[in-house]
Amino acid sequence: MEQVGDIASRIEQLRREIDQHNVRYYLQDDPAISDAEYDQLFCKLQFLESQHPEFQTPDSPTRRVGAAPLKSFTEVHHRTPMLSLNNAFNEQEVRAFDARVRETLGNDCVEYAVELKFDGLAINLTYRDGQFVQGATRGDGRAGEDVTENLRTVRSIPLRLAVPGEIEVRGEVLMFTHDFEQLNMQQRARGEREFVNPRNAAAGSLRQLDSRITAKRHLSFFAYGIGLTEGVSLPATHQGQMAQLASWGVPVAALNRVVNGVEGLLNFYREVGEQRAFLPFAIDGVVYKVNDIALQQRMGFVSRAPRFAIAHKFPAEEAMTIVLDIDVQVGRTGALTPVARLQAVFVGGVTVTNATLHNEDEIRRKDVRIGDWVLVRRAGDVIPEVASVVVSRRPADTREFVMPAVCPVCGSHVIREADEAASRCTGGLVCPAQRKQALLHFAGRRAMNIDGMGDKLVEQLVDAKLVSTPADLYKLTIPDIAHLERMGEKSAVNLLDAIAKSRHTTLARFIFALGIRNVGETTARDLAQHFGALNNLMAAGFERLQQVHDVGPVVAQSIVEFFAEAHNGSVIEQLRSLGVRWQEHEPQADIILPFSGKIFVLTGTLVKLSREQAKETLQALGAKVSGSVSKKTDYVVTGADSGSKLVRAQELGIAVLNEEELLLLLKDTHD
Ligand code: IVH
Repeated sequence: MEQVGDIASRIEQLRREIDQHNVRYYLQDDPAISDAEYDQLFCKLQFLESQHPEFQTPDSPTRRVGAAPLKSFTEVHHRTPMLSLNNAFNEQEVRAFDARVRETLGNDCVEYAVELKFDGLAINLTYRDGQFVQGATRGDGRAGEDVTENLRTVRSIPLRLAVPGEIEVRGEVLMFTHDFEQLNMQQRARGEREFVNPRNAAAGSLRQLDSRITAKRHLSFFAYGIGLTEGVSLPATHQGQMAQLASWGVPVAALNRVVNGVEGLLNFYREVGEQRAFLPFAIDGVVYKVNDIALQQRMGFVSRAPRFAIAHKFPAEEAMTIVLDIDVQVGRTGALTPVARLQAVFVGGVTVTNATLHNEDEIRRKDVRIGDWVLVRRAGDVIPEVASVVVSRRPADTREFVMPAVCPVCGSHVIREADEAASRCTGGLVCPAQRKQALLHFAGRRAMNIDGMGDKLVEQLVDAKLVSTPADLYKLTIPDIAHLERMGEKSAVNLLDAIAKSRHTTLARFIFALGIRNVGETTARDLAQHFGALNNLMAAGFERLQQVHDVGPVVAQSIVEFFAEAHNGSVIEQLRSLGVRWQEHEPQADIILPFSGKIFVLTGTLVKLSREQAKETLQALGAKVSGSVSKKTDYVVTGADSGSKLVRAQELGIAVLNEEELLLLLKDTHD
């Protein structure tokens, strides 16, 4: 039987152990044990405490899971007021601050402690004789709310400090961006309201009457100052005090330093500005404080802000404005993105007049209407977005957004597939918004294979209005293109040669080149083989298309929609009349090809044929050409330097042909 004293010391030992792991995990970002091992320690402690309630104490890590809900928060009078900071919004205001400080102190070059301005909620933590006894919000600065139980659940707030006497630690509760995103994901999954930003999420989580909810919310804490103290001796500088707090296990953000003079302040501002987007939590500026505490006291306060400190704010990343209208933009792939046209607003350091709304579902989810007041967010270099609607300010005459039925750029029909968030324009070949992408695809190596037609050239041809549809490529003349950038007479000739050569193609390549949504190279080949002629494919309806190997309703629908667009048909017609041609044959059902049902694998380098030529020839004869050897393979064709595929074929006892034997086999099919 364990002695009661043993249990008390076992409990104490477990608490210390868990506290240390908390410090390593939350403060040092360097956990020493796995989450499962941590949970085990925690469970052990919970068990011992439940068996021995006489040993329960408020500083036990088990108290971090929250306590019974409160009816309301009790008011807490701050014994020293929680002040706010004056703000500087530009360099001039910072210089004026420094000038005032120098003048008051009669010192030419003042030492400042510089640090982050956390975008969270100010709180005050009181420790008495090493125990966390009370936590309160700032409130109006004189009195706040008692949120002790909620703050106990914040893992990075120590429940004990190895400090005698009494000390108030002041700092900010916030939510890391990652935890905020996670929380919003959960909220969405549960169909509950999402939080607008990490600050609101932190505020909402801290002010829960049920601290068990707070416990699930992953709040964090950083200290930035010390309030009242009794019987505690502290270093004489702000930086020294912060270092002291850190050494006691209180979280202090690493990005702080001591600088001299105003240039040091401005350098810090710029440096942090560059890092801002990469920080794991939100900040809304930096704070400059006279480092020497005695000098701070000499400077004193004006109204409710200290004279010795100032916040140098970054441009706000959120602002409120009105949605004047909602337009749609057509992207390079044909996706339609709704964009809010906004009354101009200064946010994230620039004037914003448009913000993305992503897609139709997003508009419904956020319930954004034309005429609404919205919060617009622009962080770093990201595209401005509508974060949320200010429903309380919604005017009576707002209008709902309707996705247009036709593309605003080319007039083709707009579709939305069942499993897709985006609506798309079906005018692949003719839509100016999709032109460059469609042309690049058309000319690609696996499509029409126009040598030298890269993105720079396509860009120039389209921008110079020389080409708008693939058919225009076959109308180009030397004088048209000779003056283009990086295009001499010789390369112009080469390019036209390459275009001319591409006129001779295969039906499979042509179908693939059209860029029909969901029709990749393999499907194009299956379609070519099945229908034999383009007209048959164009005339095939939804049902007949699905008779083709691997063509389901989604692919069939894309094909039907593509050919239903009159513009697409007319480009195909033009291409044919400009001499683009391929071999056609009767539909597959009526003919049996020599290699129908046979599976070939090509490996190594062939000499007389390129791999691509061999592949196309075999496919035209009905064979499937696969990339890997399996039991189903009928022939493996080996060129020079065949490697593992040859070995595998031999292992499986599959017929192996060299190039000569392949050519003989092909010749046989003509006899
Ligand atoms: S010092 C005596 N330092 O900003 C000075 N405040 O606008 C008291 N804040 O209520 C504040 N980061 O919530 C200080 N590094 C920082 C801060 C900071 C964020 C908040 C704090 C305060 C508000 C004042």
